[in-house]
Amino acid sequence: MVSFTFLFTALAATVVSANPIQTLTERGISPGTGTHNGFYYSYWTEGVGSVDYNNGPRGSYKVKWTNVGNWVGGKGWNPGRPRKVAYNGTWNNYEVNSYLALYGWTTNPLVEYYIVEAYGNYNPSAGTEKLGTIEDDGGIYDIYKTRRVNKPSIQGTSTFDQYWSVRQVKRVGGTIDTQKHFDEWKKQGNLRLGSWNYMIMASEGYKSTGSSEIEVWAA
Ligand SMILES: *[C@@H]1O[C@H](CO)[C@@H](O)[C@H](O)[C@H]1NC(C)=O
Repeated sequence: MVSFTFLFTALAATVVSANPIQTLTERGISPGTGTHNGFYYSYWTEGVGSVDYNNGPRGSYKVKWTNVGNWVGGKGWNPGRPRKVAYNGTWNNYEVNSYLALYGWTTNPLVEYYIVEAYGNYNPSAGTEKLGTIEDDGGIYDIYKTRRVNKPSIQGTSTFDQYWSVRQVKRVGGTIDTQKHFDEWKKQGNLRLGSWNYMIMASEGYKSTGSSEIEVWAA
């Protein structure tokens, strides 16, 4: 994620007229965070382009993004913790720069983590050394670590690590045993997490146009 500046008055006006039945809060206008139908949601954009993010029934959300710089959002829990997560839905952004990932943060240390289920035309591990592999729900994930220097974070502009599991065979729908990933990150890469902050089943777009409809629940 990148920064918290956003022209959200303009977007709010557009979104409200598109569907006057839902309130701003229900539609997750932001950048912002909140609780919807018992799920935490977080929605963030660096402000370039437009994002029409809508919270739906249960743990679902639906989003369309157009010519964004960078945006990421979805539903899940806050705080996160090791748990089995299931999700389904539609994500069809294979030709553009986008991720579908179980995504979250910890503090002390400040870490941004991704369990990537599908990605588009950019593999987030490109050029990075593989630290190991994890088997989960019938698939193999590769482990990576990257470093972000003076980048936006949940604690403002900071320098922090990103931990990654990237599924070798992309998929949309299944279960993720996050405990396995957290344990193997530590065991195979000495990648340690801190105190739990939020954890969401996220869609992310980078310099792209795309859409998704995702539902998440505790498996
Ligand atoms: C997920 O599956 C349930 C049960 O089949 C279905 O009702 C729901 O619409 C699906 N969610 C999405 C986002 O496709």
